[in-house]
Amino acid sequence: MREKPIGVFDSGLGGLTAVRQLRALLPGEDIVYFGDTGRVPYGSRGRDIITAYAAQDIAFLLSCGVKTILAACGTVSSTFPQSRADALPVSYTGVVAPAAAAAAAATKNGRVGILGTQATIASGSYQAALAGIAPGIATVAAACPLFVPLVENGHFAKGDTMAALAAEEYLAPVRAAGVDTLILGCTHYPLLADTIAAYMGPDVALIDSGYTAAFALRDKLAAGGLLHPRATGGTCRYFVSDDEVRFDHLAHVFLGKAAEGEVRRINIEEYTLAP
Ligand code: DGL
Repeated sequence: MREKPIGVFDSGLGGLTAVRQLRALLPGEDIVYFGDTGRVPYGSRGRDIITAYAAQDIAFLLSCGVKTILAACGTVSSTFPQSRADALPVSYTGVVAPAAAAAAAATKNGRVGILGTQATIASGSYQAALAGIAPGIATVAAACPLFVPLVENGHFAKGDTMAALAAEEYLAPVRAAGVDTLILGCTHYPLLADTIAAYMGPDVALIDSGYTAAFALRDKLAAGGLLHPRATGGTCRYFVSDDEVRFDHLAHVFLGKAAEGEVRRINIEEYTLAP
């Protein structure tokens, strides 16, 4: 079991921010990544559709023989029912709890901002996780529906005017609330960290949900005796549901380097998870 790969998925490229950190933390692990590039974005869809898509993504990763699954997607982590996650044959980790724990530890003034997709913010998942850890923390949340399409279309460079305009629009109430910590509750958002930081100012700590989830997954594997015995030499395989070339083009930005390893297109509609 220990030698099996880690399965990671997202609606698109955002989950690669978690893969980047996993590669740094656990270089001996093999990783199978699925990005549902044909059906991104998830965050503007209803709960039933997001859950159905996530179930297919999980079914695909299970077909690859993974030893654990990381939902490197704030939207799925906020939506996929815990009862279904608990029924999976392998462990399942989302990004919400680790990011909430990191935010609770980081805030000094007890005011935390939460950014996410429409589905994530509507679910109240980060607010609930924070309330469970530190009930006194005040939260202000903002849905940022244009952030994912901006990132997926390459608008994330420092100084990008479209990204800056969207950030100003979404972040104004969050800045006005005087938060000192801001959860980037969608795994695409770290690509916009420069833009977000430029608007929020240098005193606001940004919490990267994919980054913190990678630590949580490492700790879970260690606790379960499931870390790969090998210290280095892990591989990465990438699967997408749309054009592989488009994926290759942007993946290096999320990973911080070229996506070494095969990239293959699959038909995600062929996969089903038992209810
Ligand atoms: N990376 C996904 C998340 O963390 C993006 C969601 C979407 O596809 O809208 O929420």
